[in-house]
Amino acid sequence: MREIRISRNGFRTGEKRKISLPDGKELVIFYLGADRFFAFDNRCPHLGCDISKYGVIIKEELVCQCHFSHFSIYTGEPKKGASRKPIRVYKTQVTPDEVIISLI
Ligand code: FES
Repeated sequence: MREIRISRNGFRTGEKRKISLPDGKELVIFYLGADRFFAFDNRCPHLGCDISKYGVIIKEELVCQCHFSHFSIYTGEPKKGASRKPIRVYKTQVTPDEVIISLI
């Protein structure tokens, strides 16, 4: 699977949703309003906390509140806190009806 498409209807600004793929992998998507969707691996690269529960976006950083690792929402690069490893960021594309998340 190279991409997944989900309906963008019903997303409220500030909402995050976990997405489970058929292979068992989990992503999380955050909606920041307008056409701004950001998708990440749902497991923190530090100790594996569930980002759909413990993740928040503050300005341009994703923060895992388990141990307060901060990651760039654009590159996944660790900016501050416990994690030395990046979190995977998935490219998103938005159409009037869908969000397309590239898995490659
Ligand atoms: S598991 Fe996310 S910061 Fe430790």
